[in-house]
Order: sequence, then structure tokens, then C-alpha cells
Amino acid sequence: MNGPRMIDALALGGKPTAIAEAARLLRAGGLVAFPTETVYGLGANALDEAAVARIFAAKGRPASNPVIVHVATIDQARSLVRDWPSAADRLARQFWPGPLTLVLPKRDVVPSSVTAGGDTVAIRLPAHPIAHALIEACGFPLAAPSANRSTRISPTTAAHVAKELGDRVDLILDGGPTPGGLESTVVDLTGPKPRVLRPGLVTAEQIEQALETTIDETSTCVGDKIARSPGLMERHYAPRVPLEVADNAPRRVSELLQASQRVGWLSFSDEPNVDSSRRIAVPRTVSSYASRLYAALHELEDAGVERIVVSRPPDDPEWRAIHDRLRRAATNS
Ligand code: TXA
Ligand code: MG
Repeated sequence: MNGPRMIDALALGGKPTAIAEAARLLRAGGLVAFPTETVYGLGANALDEAAVARIFAAKGRPASNPVIVHVATIDQARSLVRDWPSAADRLARQFWPGPLTLVLPKRDVVPSSVTAGGDTVAIRLPAHPIAHALIEACGFPLAAPSANRSTRISPTTAAHVAKELGDRVDLILDGGPTPGGLESTVVDLTGPKPRVLRPGLVTAEQIEQALETTIDETSTCVGDKIARSPGLMERHYAPRVPLEVADNAPRRVSELLQASQRVGWLSFSDEPNVDSSRRIAVPRTVSSYASRLYAALHELEDAGVERIVVSRPPDDPEWRAIHDRLRRAATNS
């Protein structure tokens, strides 16, 4: 397998050329991976059914799992939906550009492959300058799931994308590590009450404050007609080796070492060390933890450990998205 084509989109003077080349490929129906403020996305022209089909093939993604459409302006978002409720307007004005995705009733112009046959479309306006410049240069919205193989850890660097997708992608725009590190919060605005389908760094509390209303955060939609947020129902975000979250991680790691296991440990910097474990220590703050989580899991699995132990993060509402991803990464089916 050839390595994928990669362009450094941050190189001095290189950015306009990189963006133009990426837009050219996308216009021709190709696939381009690009950085966003959350994770890298695998982009295609959202209005081109055949291009969108290539995303599903490259990821090994089930056709039942809809993808997010990325736009450059609120007007472009509105051109994709039948209804733009005041809640959408408020949330867009407060959190866009940024890591929040809104689910709204779709217009016919959005191909049904994007929405997994459903009547709603998920839209977000990313804050990352490269993502923004790329969508603007294209002039059409970009369908872009995270640029990983289905059920795997999301990529936060261009190297992760290359490792995951190889030459299944026509071009990778390298914009360095993504700052956020966790996928966007997904909010469904099509029901009687707004509902968080996937927790993220924009918290339910922030959304409630912006809307001055309570939201329905609990339902994980199992049994809904379309898989409303399939990431919520299956193993997802998973490393290739077993992962467990431990209350007393130093003890658990020692135990595994005594049993001669090669163990990788994602710990907090304030925890005592355990000899001869492969340890990555991160600070106990949500934003730095989020930005390092996936890179740490990639690094540990690349180091060839047999299992990964993660120190249990604080049980605080702002850590909810982290707990969500760790729980899914630990699910073994
Ligand atoms: O931060 C992010 O959201 C990243 C970057 C690249 O933007 N994208 C991302 O895409 O995480 P993906 O495909 O890995 O996750 C999209 C999530 C899935 O859980 C999917 O089920 C949900 O959004 N989704 C997409 N369209 C939907 C719809 N019409 N209704 C409900 N959920 C939807
Ligand atoms: Mg994903």
C-alpha cells in the first residue's frame, strides 16, 4: 500500500495552495482529510451522492450511521434545512463557529446517504481556520465524519489519519494536532425538547443556559427508526487492545505487571508512579485531558501494550464527555 498524500497546510505561504488543491480534489468527487478544532474529518462534497458513498467505503462505516455536514456560514446551514427554529438560531449564534452539531429537518438537496435515509441532517460550522478556508474554497458543504475506520479511535493528528486510512484518502491536509481532541456535542432540535445525542466539550448545562430551558439529556435513542447517534449504541472510539477504567489505577497496574502483562497506563500527573509500566501522565483539567486522550490511546497501542488501564477521571458534570468516550472504548462487543 502506498502512503497517503499529505500536504503541510501550515507551511509559510503553503496554505492557499494546499487549500486550492484540496478543493480541486473535492470538486472532482474525491476524499480529503482535514483538521477541525475537535478531530480530523474525512471530507467529501455533501451534495454529491457518489462522493459521500466513498466516505462510507473508506471508513467501513455502516450505511445506517449518518454523517455530519460542515458549513462555512449560518446561511449555508439554513440552505440545507426546512426549518430553522429559534433554538437553532440561538445555539448557532452562541457556539458557532465551534464544536456543536445541530440536528434539523433536511431539505431534498441533502442526499439521503448523508442522513442514513433519515429526514434530518446534522450540521456544524467548525472554528478551525483550515476547515473554514476549505469549505469556503469549495463553495459547497462538506460531509465529514471523523477520519478513522469505523469504531476506532478518532484521529487528532495527520499521522493518525494516515495510520487509520492509508491510501483510502486522496489527500490529508496536515494542520498539526487538533486542539479540542473530542468530537462535537450533537444536539437534536427536531423533537419536543432539545436532546443531547452525543456529549462533548459544549456541555448540556451550557446549552440549557443558552436556550433558557431544560433539555432532555438522558435518552440514548435505542430503538429509534434511524440510528440517531449510533456512536451511543455500540463499541466505539476503541483501541485495538482491551481498555479498563480503574478506581485505584496504581494498584491495578502493579497487579497486571506482577502477572507479567505489558500494560499501558493513562494516568494523572498527580498520581504516584509504578515502576516499569508504560505511563502517560496528563493534568487533571478537562480541556488538556480531552486534547490528549485519543493521542495517548494511539501512542499506547502503537507501543505494543497488551492492555490499557485508565485512571478514573473526576465524577464531575464537565467530565461527562470524557466518561462517555472511555465507557465506549472499554465496551468489548
Ligand atoms: O467533531 C465532530 O463532530 C467530528 C468532526 C470531523 O467534525 N465529526 C464526527 O463525525 O465526529 P462522526 O461521523 O464520527 O460522528 C457523527 C455523529 C454520529 O454519532 C452520528 O450518528 C451523528 O453524529 N449524526 C449524524 N447525522 C445525524 C442525524 N441526522 N441525526 C442524528 N445523529 C446524527
Ligand atoms: Mg466518529
